[in-house]
Amino acid sequence: MIIRPRRLRRSPTLRKMVRETALSTKDFIYPLFVKHGQGEKEPIPSMPGQYQFTLGGIVQEAKEVWSLGIPSIILFGIPDKKDATGTRSYAEDGIVQRAISAIKENLPEIIVMTDVCLCEYTDHGHCGIIKNNGIDNDATLEVLARQAVSHARAGVDIVAPSDMMDGRVGAIRSELDANQFHDTGILSYAVKYASAFYGPFREAADCAPQFGDRAGYQMDPANALEAIKETILDMEEGADMIMVKPALPYLDIVRRVREECLLPLAAYNVSGEYAMVKAAHEKGWIDGPRVMMEMLISIKRAGADLIVTYFAKEAARVLEQSK
Ligand code: PBG
Repeated sequence: MIIRPRRLRRSPTLRKMVRETALSTKDFIYPLFVKHGQGEKEPIPSMPGQYQFTLGGIVQEAKEVWSLGIPSIILFGIPDKKDATGTRSYAEDGIVQRAISAIKENLPEIIVMTDVCLCEYTDHGHCGIIKNNGIDNDATLEVLARQAVSHARAGVDIVAPSDMMDGRVGAIRSELDANQFHDTGILSYAVKYASAFYGPFREAADCAPQFGDRAGYQMDPANALEAIKETILDMEEGADMIMVKPALPYLDIVRRVREECLLPLAAYNVSGEYAMVKAAHEKGWIDGPRVMMEMLISIKRAGADLIVTYFAKEAARVLEQSK
């Protein structure tokens, strides 16, 4: 006798009935870049379909994201001035702080998250303060905590530290609490690899390191046990959610972290993963929208609850059509 798994693949309805994983617009977190200037937005050449928005354009964009059923955005700021210690990252009138209040004022229900890091704000492009030719971990913690509190003051719901300094979740939590921001959450980029897949983002956010690389603080792509260690540490330090980044080359890590982690788990489908699909689709080599949906379902299947993705709007439209 032949066992026939194909019986359950006979029709679209049957396949739908036995489908194990579901993708929903509520799983998406949409990244948005915000900068100073006139007009509404400027395209990012390495990420077709993505823009740097001005304060004049960002609220409208957030409204569109919300109307598509996407519950959350994560903001990245491009400041007017950079310096050695990233002081514009915690300015009350900084670009991200202003964007948070403008969005929350117009759209109180959307969950606004912010990337907390120094690389966009330092003239050397590293994610921390430089001392004696190295990144000074503990000096950086103070600036990160200050940045997080400034976002909280502007009304952010959740801060997402992406710098990979040791102890930053604990430092941010205690500074938020000391300033009465007990309800501001922390999504920790707990497991962030030193990846070449961030290439297009560094153009979009103007944050490529001016010397060296980030291997002294971001994780070695060869390591998996270390991902568990970082996750446990951040759970203990008070993170509310954990993130693995990038997503696709690290689906095994997503799975392993899911099994060890008691918190909601996000995966970041990063700029390079997005750009590759767009470029190959433009060349006519792949069916971009289908590849997009396959990638997103695979991230979900690996165990992510939430996906930070530049595809969010496009995928939301596909999901709406296939209802
Ligand atoms: C750092 C940060 C980076 C990304 C998100 N936050 C860049 C880096 O670590 O070099 C990358 C996101 C992407 O590639 O889509 N602030």
